[in-house]
Amino acid sequence: MTRMLIVGPPGAGKGTQSKKISEEHGIIAISTGDIFRENIKGQTELGKEAQKYVDAGNLVPDSVTNRMIEDRLTWDDAKDGFLLDGYPRNRTQVAAFDEITSRLDVELDVVLELTADREELISRLVRRAEIDGRADDTEDVIRHRLEVFEQETAPMIEEYRQRGVLKQVDGLGAVEEVGARIAEALKA
Ligand code: AP5
Repeated sequence: MTRMLIVGPPGAGKGTQSKKISEEHGIIAISTGDIFRENIKGQTELGKEAQKYVDAGNLVPDSVTNRMIEDRLTWDDAKDGFLLDGYPRNRTQVAAFDEITSRLDVELDVVLELTADREELISRLVRRAEIDGRADDTEDVIRHRLEVFEQETAPMIEEYRQRGVLKQVDGLGAVEEVGARIAEALKA
């Protein structure tokens, strides 16, 4: 049973690698970004609330995101482990997540950080824009998302480093190479 987070800047490969980790470890991968995008597509109340933040590359308000995750983690498919992709994303969410795990009486095992340099991140996301047309993959919004990452998410990752649960993996190279590095890091 594993309970883990995957963190890193936009374009680091969190979503791509989550699928593989989820299969290998038999745990559900939950992406806050995917949940928001599905709700925006379906124009649910949550989607309507989140859309302006997601489209601009800003974080959706913590109260909305924390509530959504607490609810999601009570589903049956998350009872025996989970991989969270994109949550927590700032220090306030870390504090909320600590409370959520404590209420659910579960412990976080590992935080996996994927790294990649800025130019590679931008080029991956610009390439994805041409294929998928994700609303927040325009060049201006990509740069803003990277700033939000530096200002809000990087300090949060540092907190997990200090807690001794962080494993850092180089996200550069082919998807399979990165996957092999992750498998090694998780074994260690
Ligand atoms: P989210 O969906 O989490 O987006 P993100 O963090 O910006 O991450 P991406 O999906 O862009 O990148 P990724 O690291 O998953 O990489 P991927 O595998 O897709 O969040 C979107 C928005 O939702 C936020 O801006 C915010 O508004 C909101 N939100 C989400 N969580 C929130 C929270 N907790 N609180 C508040 N708001 C929240 O790969 C990217 C591309 O690169 C793909 O095309 C892929 O095919 C390619 N690729 C992957 N690996 C490689 C490789 N090794 N080599 C070459 N190409 C590769």
